[in-house]
Amino acid sequence: MSAEIFDKVKGLLKEIQDAAPDNTDALEQFRIRFVGAKNVLKPLFGEIRNISNERKKEFGQLVNQVKQEAEAKFNQLKAQVEAKAEEADAGALDLTAPGEPLELGARHPVSIVMNRIVKIFERIGFVVAEEREIEDDWHNFTAMNTPEDHPARDMQDTYYLQDSTKMLLRTHTSSVQARTMENNQPPIRIIAPGRVYRNETISARSHCQFHQVEGLYIAENVSFADLKQTLLYFAKEMYGKTKIRLRPSYFPFTEPSAEMDIYWGLENETDYRITKGTGWLEILGCGMVDPQVLENCGIDPEKYSGFAFGMGIERQAMMLYKINDIRLLFENDVRFLNQFSSAY
Ligand code: DAH
Repeated sequence: MSAEIFDKVKGLLKEIQDAAPDNTDALEQFRIRFVGAKNVLKPLFGEIRNISNERKKEFGQLVNQVKQEAEAKFNQLKAQVEAKAEEADAGALDLTAPGEPLELGARHPVSIVMNRIVKIFERIGFVVAEEREIEDDWHNFTAMNTPEDHPARDMQDTYYLQDSTKMLLRTHTSSVQARTMENNQPPIRIIAPGRVYRNETISARSHCQFHQVEGLYIAENVSFADLKQTLLYFAKEMYGKTKIRLRPSYFPFTEPSAEMDIYWGLENETDYRITKGTGWLEILGCGMVDPQVLENCGIDPEKYSGFAFGMGIERQAMMLYKINDIRLLFENDVRFLNQFSSAY
């Protein structure tokens, strides 16, 4: 009796080892026979009591082994059959079906405005210059004629890096002027777009990060008239406006300094609102590069002169696209950004 039942179990083990179901139906047959609730191995455990004492242990181990092999084999076969089914699905791919539409992204409104400004200046020979956002004190302030105790430093609340008061997040793109002059001799004609940082409370109208475009032109005999003509050209190209005015102002790095307003007009309610009823819109700061700045950066102020200007981008983007909260420009909500997909 013992030998017979041992043979039966070994027969089942061989059957399990040889099984090679290659479709879901055959796999299901295997499952029912060897691992299902009523599988053929279950009654074998009841046979143990009929086995002679000295072979009980051996029989128990054998039946257990068969049970484990059955389960392992089933899992392995299942994975194979599933992979095969997947392959078959892929083979049934309909190559004539219409493709998934490719979603086009949109340029960020700040990029759109910045690119437009840069292109306008590139057309008259300015070359793009880009520099680091983490700056040292020298290039951001001192070289630009703003030494440590200079009151003008208060005009720009600065983020200093924690472990050093000498490194900071640049507060303006004017730092690019310093770096460019250090490494190049005139003629210099650059346009520098980039992000700047100031420690300011975030609100609908101000943010701790924003973008500027800086311009710098240095050569022999550059005059204030050159600056004015360049800015007039910009006003025409960017806004289609033909009237500008330069109001005296103060910046440490220019002398004389001015602020440029564009005459926007007062044709409708929006014009009244954005120009506060004056018709004039303040666009940028500018001036003749202070000879001290030239000297700080290794350029001979006796031989060369130059002009510079700097403008904020967000305010212009907000005006052009009628955006009433600067925070929208930094939240990157695609529902907002998608609205600019047809802008250029
Ligand atoms: N750096 C100034 C600011 O951030 C803007 C500026 C004014 C830049 C006059 C210039 C300039 O180059 O000439 O407020």
